[in-house]
Amino acid sequence: MRLLGHATIQRSSPRPRLLRLAIPVISIALALLSGCRIRALDPAGPASRLIAGLWWFMLAISIIVFLAVVVTLAIALLRRRGDEEEEARAHRVSYGLITWGGAIVPGIIVLGLMIYNTFVIVNLETPPPDNVLEVMVRAHHFWWEVNYHQYGFATANEIHVPTGQPFVVLLDSEDVIHSFWVPQLHGKRDLMPDFTGRLWMQADEPGIYRGQCAEFCGLQHAKMKFVVVALEPNDFQAWLQQQLEERLIPTSGRALRGRQIFMGSECVYCHAISGTNATSTFGPDLTNIASRLELGAGTLPNTRGNLAAWIIDAQHFKPGNYMPPMPIEGPDLQDMLHYMDTLH
Ligand code: CUA
Repeated sequence: MRLLGHATIQRSSPRPRLLRLAIPVISIALALLSGCRIRALDPAGPASRLIAGLWWFMLAISIIVFLAVVVTLAIALLRRRGDEEEEARAHRVSYGLITWGGAIVPGIIVLGLMIYNTFVIVNLETPPPDNVLEVMVRAHHFWWEVNYHQYGFATANEIHVPTGQPFVVLLDSEDVIHSFWVPQLHGKRDLMPDFTGRLWMQADEPGIYRGQCAEFCGLQHAKMKFVVVALEPNDFQAWLQQQLEERLIPTSGRALRGRQIFMGSECVYCHAISGTNATSTFGPDLTNIASRLELGAGTLPNTRGNLAAWIIDAQHFKPGNYMPPMPIEGPDLQDMLHYMDTLH
């Protein structure tokens, strides 16, 4: 009890008060820093540029209005009372302030913002030219199925597109509502079961643009990332050709043994590899797993060691995802990794 009493006294000392002040400051700083990492205000395409322009314009208007209100308030607070005549004049001025500052000017600002906003929305919704690349993106708990249905192949968690050309993303969901967001290319768009959303965007420069699920969807919502890989049109065509080529089946050595182990394991109940008997779409398609940048929808960099660790115990890195621990060890695991190395 004495200790408890002591703690109560400590609570009112200046240090906890500082701590209490520090928590919101740190939270805001962290929020701002995370904002820097996703770079919503560093547009890399026409859609995100329109959105960023609107954002900066609204910020500028807000700052001007805020400063005007603070200055008016300061003048009102600091003003000394005058004689009767002066007070009557001040009264007339305040009526004018209420009419202009309280109704007319805000009305003009809101109307202006509405017009600008409508202009942005109309431009974002204007359909792109026909015959552009279309990519079907389906959200799953907690990864992204990426289907190039015009070409008949699928991949996961990575969307390759050519630069300087609009492309369409068709969005739906396997389970709950998710949200597709590539801050440098466009705003957010929800993915819903039994409804196909449509979004078009364009990347001006080659690069890797980070995307993130932006709607809380369950335990691993935060580890539901993806990337848009924008390639020069020639490089994109080369990538496309590589995906369309028939896969070479290893005919000897460790890769062949690894393939046999994979095909005989439970992996095939969830994953597909083009040209094999593994065709399930429950989990990510593994046809080009060796060339992907990350594992587990942005959970780990795609290295051999990480892939081994992911196969053995994906729950350790991403608790609550649907990949169970796989009892594959030693030479069997090594051979399977050899096989997976061939999947480009
Ligand atoms: Cu999917 Cu959040």
